Amino acid sequence: MSPMFVPGPVDVAPEVLQQQTKPMLPHRSKDFEAIFQRAGDKLRQVFFTQYRVFIMTNSGSGAQEAAIRNLAKERVLSCVNGAFSKRWYDVAVANGKLADKVEVPMGQAILPGMVEEALQKQKYELITIVHNETSTGVQNPVKEIAEVVKRVSPDTMIAVDAVSSLAGAKVEMDALGLDLLFTSSQKCMALPPGIALCAVNDRAMARAAEVPSRGWYFDFLLLEKHRNKDSTPMTPAMSLVFALDYQLDRMLAEGLENRFARHAAMAKRSQAWAAKKGWALFAPEGYRSNTLTVVTNPPEFDIAEFNKFLATRNLRLANGYGDLKGKTFRIAHMGEIQLTDLENLLAALDEYNATKGI
Ligand SMILES: Cc1ncc(COP(=O)(O)O)c(C=O)c1O
Repeated sequence: MSPMFVPGPVDVAPEVLQQQTKPMLPHRSKDFEAIFQRAGDKLRQVFFTQYRVFIMTNSGSGAQEAAIRNLAKERVLSCVNGAFSKRWYDVAVANGKLADKVEVPMGQAILPGMVEEALQKQKYELITIVHNETSTGVQNPVKEIAEVVKRVSPDTMIAVDAVSSLAGAKVEMDALGLDLLFTSSQKCMALPPGIALCAVNDRAMARAAEVPSRGWYFDFLLLEKHRNKDSTPMTPAMSLVFALDYQLDRMLAEGLENRFARHAAMAKRSQAWAAKKGWALFAPEGYRSNTLTVVTNPPEFDIAEFNKFLATRNLRLANGYGDLKGKTFRIAHMGEIQLTDLENLLAALDEYNATKGI
């Protein structure tokens, strides 16, 4: 494997890719239903939930839309501190909801006090929070925000996007009292893109039952009716489900705690490298991601040039997102990346900088 330090799609282990070449089965067959059920059971461990995890044939943005369509008739509060949390707000507006924002500039975290203030002014059916803002490397304090929501507005559903953290960092759905939690396949799960995994608790299912016009494709009640038969209403992305089932075994064999520790160690190492170099981290202390380190670089460091240098070693690094392009770069250390891979990248960074006198 040639590690790409990019926040998805990430490298997929060859034996996981291989699973996708398995012959098709009728999706309404005992054989496929057994695989679907097995994958769903293992997913509950990764989400730390006793509830259902829908295996959805869409990317993470579809799960953002599903949360909006199922959990709110009218009013949504969106926590916005980067591109992907802003997308979730846009999804709410596009679905005709009255959406308000708790917003801070990119690079800052959403603080519980900000949410408390917003909830005291207005009643909301749903709050949306991105756990790990992939555009900035900021990890929002979901635990503390959830505590505020439960205290100030207990009827508000709490939906969390953990697209770039779940399976790389511990997000305990039930212990945190989250009503909905999702990820996409192509990041910390280290699978090809194409499916989203979305856990929904009973309280959220009951809410969905009260919300009219949930649409069809993302209707949780319809998905649940079929999930109860270890199936889906529509044809699932079967090859990806084969790969998911296999990859979950690999993840559980590594051990979830070991996996989280591997990512945390890589975050620490990346942060220490930046500190030694004197380059600032974009996320403030206390709110830094375990799966993605965003570094503010001086203008003379040209990330596109550096990537050309890296290509000769079969490595790749992510540029800053949107307006942050050229000003920051993102070291994604998620999925299959090991500390030794990261050391190779950091050594290449040092070597390149030395040749440029940076
Ligand atoms: C935090 C976050 N949420 C949502 C998305 C959108 O996910 P997808 O590209 O799977 O639709 C991304 C994609 O990078 C993301 O990083």
